Amino acid sequence: MGQRLAIAVLAAGKGTRLKSARAKVLHQIGGKALLRHVVDTALQVAQPRDIFVIVGHQAGAVQDAVRDTGVQFLHQREQHGTGHAVQVLRHAWDEQKLNYDELLVLSGDVPLLQAGTIESLKSFHQQQNAAMTVLTAVPEDPAGYGRVIRKSEGSPEVLAIVEQKALTPEQLSAREINSGIYCFKTAPLFAHLNELRTDNAHGEYYLTDMAALLAAAGERVVAIAAPRPDEVLGANTIAEMMQLDATMRMDKAKALMAAGVTIFAPETCVIDAEVEVAADTIIEPFVQLRGKTVIGSGCRIRSYSVVQDSVLAGDVLIRNSCVIEESSIAQGARIGPFAHLRPKSRIGENAHVGNFVETKAATLHAGVKAGHLSYLGDAEIGAGTNIGAGTITCNYDGSGKHKTTIGEGVFIGSDSALVAPVTIGDGAYVAAGSVITEDVPADSLALGRARQTNKEGWAKQREAKSGQNS
Ligand code: UD1
Ligand code: MG
Repeated sequence: MGQRLAIAVLAAGKGTRLKSARAKVLHQIGGKALLRHVVDTALQVAQPRDIFVIVGHQAGAVQDAVRDTGVQFLHQREQHGTGHAVQVLRHAWDEQKLNYDELLVLSGDVPLLQAGTIESLKSFHQQQNAAMTVLTAVPEDPAGYGRVIRKSEGSPEVLAIVEQKALTPEQLSAREINSGIYCFKTAPLFAHLNELRTDNAHGEYYLTDMAALLAAAGERVVAIAAPRPDEVLGANTIAEMMQLDATMRMDKAKALMAAGVTIFAPETCVIDAEVEVAADTIIEPFVQLRGKTVIGSGCRIRSYSVVQDSVLAGDVLIRNSCVIEESSIAQGARIGPFAHLRPKSRIGENAHVGNFVETKAATLHAGVKAGHLSYLGDAEIGAGTNIGAGTITCNYDGSGKHKTTIGEGVFIGSDSALVAPVTIGDGAYVAAGSVITEDVPADSLALGRARQTNKEGWAKQREAKSGQNS
């Protein structure tokens, strides 16, 4: 029988050192809140009912960031430290009559931790038969972190964790840091949890003090180093957070490249954690792929384009400087340069949306061409239709939005204004420069513009007139 394991995610703190009005765990790296990264990783190791997120500062917004995962929330109404957060957890378990043999503690502000590392921590903890196991690292710069003091060099056993502010002059050179991630046997943890004191620099109950308390009580306290130091780094300042962001994005780019995606100058690209890109797609410098974007194979995304929460099928070409939001683009379509696809744009197979074209809630079926300078909003455009340069769907009448429906194989002449609601039948033609206010039947020609008159000889006559006057 395995040991019953629970995970606590500490996320109640404010993050004073960030100097931000927003709770620290809500700040984003890789397009995802810090806490979301931690909870997503925890879910790879445990069931949502066994994951307890400790919330306090901005509790509502913090819960909203992970509510859909089904994890449990416990309220630490006043934040008296990381040790106090675990006391709150124990109290809640007592009330709910919950029982676990082991408790894994994760920190809501340590987002790069991998599930594999949690597994290693857990198995080392069990193999060592320890009461407490601390995950550590030896980063370039240990400043600001608690330091792990081992019994002797090379020993797995830990005597104490000393916070930065309490380091003695000789401990200042200690380079092994506490990641804030631990595995506990709940029985010894809970037996000694009330021995924590607040006689320290912050006047708080430090969970870190459990190391010395348990060791002094004759319990086994050990430490294991993470495979990669940057996996357990925290984010206490915006600068540290941007460092984590850069690390995460470079890891993401490397994983995509390992899977057959070409990314030129990956250090200039911004690719969010959850973006998917298939093999043989090429991403040029300074591209941003955000949110839940999914890109098929054989696509090319040219420089300065931003694709947000959108789905691109295979062989799609996005030329330079396009902005694409919450839209879908089918096989072989070509977009841009300088096109703006606003939410709910659906671009069909082999369609073309060209220079300075804006779409919104518009479905362009297969092979539609809208090459230049158009606004297509609240519109459905049938297969093979040609939208002339400068065509505008006038979807807004000052109070409400209306739909434009254009059939298949239609030709809309340049600089036409289609005043919605309006329907243009299959195979119809609209003459250039028309203002279309009434439906156009299939296969007909609509002219909605003033007739041209030519006044022959007019220029010469005017010249002669002005000669007489001078
Ligand atoms: C903590 C550790 C430090 C370690 C570092 C690693 C303590 C005393 N120190 O310091 O040894 O090197 O993490 O990143 O634990 N939180 C609560 N309730 C509270 C206070 C904090 O839930 O009352 C949460 C915070 O939201 C945060 C986490 O616990 O997600 C850690 O708190 P933080 O204030 O960042 O601790 P550090 O100073 O980083
Ligand atoms: Mg921290």
